[in-house]
Amino acid sequence: MKTLIKLSLVLALGLAAGNAMAFHDGGVAYCAGCHTMHNSQNGAVVDANNPGGNAYLLKSGNPSDTCLSCHANYGQFRGGNGYGPGGDFYWLTKTFTWTQRSSVVSSQGDSHGHNVIAPARGLAQDATLTQAPGGTFQSQYLSCTSCHDPHGNQNFRILYGSAIGPVYNGGRYNFTAEAPLAKGNSRNTYIAGGGFEDNANHTVYKSGMSDWCANCHTNFHSPNTSNFVHPTGQALGSTVAANYNAYISSDEIVGGNPATSYWGLVPFEDIDVDLETVDAANYTAGPVSNDRVMCLSCHRAHASPFRDIARWDMSATHIISSHPQITDGNATQADIDNMYYDYTFVTNQRSLCNKCHVKDAGDAPYELH
Ligand code: HEC
Ligand code: HEC
Ligand code: HEC
Ligand code: HEC
Ligand code: HEC
Ligand code: HEC
Repeated sequence: MKTLIKLSLVLALGLAAGNAMAFHDGGVAYCAGCHTMHNSQNGAVVDANNPGGNAYLLKSGNPSDTCLSCHANYGQFRGGNGYGPGGDFYWLTKTFTWTQRSSVVSSQGDSHGHNVIAPARGLAQDATLTQAPGGTFQSQYLSCTSCHDPHGNQNFRILYGSAIGPVYNGGRYNFTAEAPLAKGNSRNTYIAGGGFEDNANHTVYKSGMSDWCANCHTNFHSPNTSNFVHPTGQALGSTVAANYNAYISSDEIVGGNPATSYWGLVPFEDIDVDLETVDAANYTAGPVSNDRVMCLSCHRAHASPFRDIARWDMSATHIISSHPQITDGNATQADIDNMYYDYTFVTNQRSLCNKCHVKDAGDAPYELH
């Protein structure tokens, strides 16, 4: 009896997930999800914004517009409500300004993310960077499909690997590194959707992320005697791993429990994790010494409210002083509420670099200036 009930439960759950989820399904989805053969259905144009139809016979504007016609509401472009591991491209549309020591400074929208070009959503080419820093990929070609294969594959998040690279300037861009190994949650990244990130529910990264980012940012991942960059794809070592596990906050720099020390905001690659069995919805273990620091320990892959697509405000001494603040030009209360997802911090919390480096040992408490 017991097994019967269990079995039917598994079946019910499995079916529900299968029906609701499958589109790309680890490969190419039904063509009409993205393409229209004549830009016409029931005698009406499919893309009213472009009555002449679109290149590649796409249903909406260009590749990124086509992806966002479904994915905007899943959380990839959702007014800052997308609390996903990748982050919400909405932040590209927000430039925040404030006065600092009597000069006006800003946190530019185009520095908040990868500027995927999506005219129907008001997303334009990066106005500052003409190409990927540390590499050659030109900003004018940047799209969702510069990283994700629209025709699918079996990689993590259908990311491109070395077998075939993204469409680029009439040809394809060559990727030398494979897609990273990792396991994620639902693509519905708003708080009720299951794919939001917190300390337990987050992508479990195993290996290869830094090499993968270096497909386009080559030099940022090749430290040598004349190129000084923060280590990536490199073992934490026993000191940093011990720091991470012990660190609770700027108020309590020791005393953490390695079984629960994981911070979703400061992830690392868990080299020995078994991706088949790990539960990405409930994973809290801290690192051991062979685990790795990587690009996404400090950045998000899509966008964030902060300059340089940082996971936290790298220009704030205390997290509480992060921008946007409500007094900033162009900031809304919703922006403030969304900027750190549902994470909470002690008032005295300093930069999250301290999770690995504890340079806040013995520091004075926060004071309002
Ligand atoms: C998830 C959206 C999506 C689906 C589903 C999809 N395509 Fe595409 N397709 C694109 C995009 C976007 C491009 C434009 C090139 C790019 O950005 O990679 C494209 C380009 C193409 C091209 C020309 C360039 C190339 O890669 O060869 C062909 C041919 C094509 N698609 C055929 C198909 C067929 C056939 C199917 C169904 C079996 C299909 N597509 C399903 C999004 C999709
Ligand atoms: C017709 C709606 C639709 C369109 C258009 C669409 N998607 Fe999706 N996408 C989905 C659904 C539904 C899922 C979740 C189920 C799945 O993975 O098949 C999903 C999942 C994903 C995932 C997560 C896959 C995983 O392995 O967890 C990625 C990445 C993604 N889509 C990228 C894209 C990109 C890039 C485009 C544009 C080329 C695109 N999608 C266009 C509906 C769509
Ligand atoms: C397909 C090529 C490509 C891949 C892969 C890629 N990037 Fe980028 N990246 C670019 C381009 C082009 C720019 C400059 C244009 C822009 O910022 O929109 C850029 C800009 C950036 C910036 C600076 C943003 C700013 O405006 O200050 C950061 C940070 C960044 N990428 C991090 C990453 C990380 C981390 C990864 C891996 C998860 C990654 N990139 C993967 C192409 C890529
Ligand atoms: C620079 C490369 C890059 C670009 C451009 C990019 N993605 Fe992603 N995307 C990633 C990576 C890497 C992940 C995995 C992030 C993680 O788990 O930390 C990801 C994750 C996702 C997910 C899983 C849920 C989430 O939000 O984390 C979806 C869905 C998705 N991307 C869709 C899109 C769509 C739609 C676009 C364009 C509007 C896009 N991506 C543009 C690299 C990219
Ligand atoms: C996930 C853990 C992690 C995070 C987060 C992290 N680091 Fe590191 N960092 C390392 C490791 C591992 C090393 C190399 C071993 C060491 O020097 O202890 C390192 C080395 C360094 C070094 C010395 C580099 C050298 O060549 O001597 C500096 C400086 C540094 N980190 C600064 C920072 C700053 C600033 C931040 C925040 C923006 C930061 N780190 C965030 C893990 C991390
Ligand atoms: C220890 C944290 C940390 C790690 C790890 C890290 N970055 Fe950065 N990144 C930063 C900070 C902070 C900045 C701001 C500029 C600076 O400090 O040099 C930045 C800036 C950038 C920029 C923008 C440069 C520009 O000219 O505007 C790119 C691109 C970038 N990082 C890509 C990467 C890639 C790719 C990786 C992995 C190979 C990576 N980062 C790993 C913290 C980090």
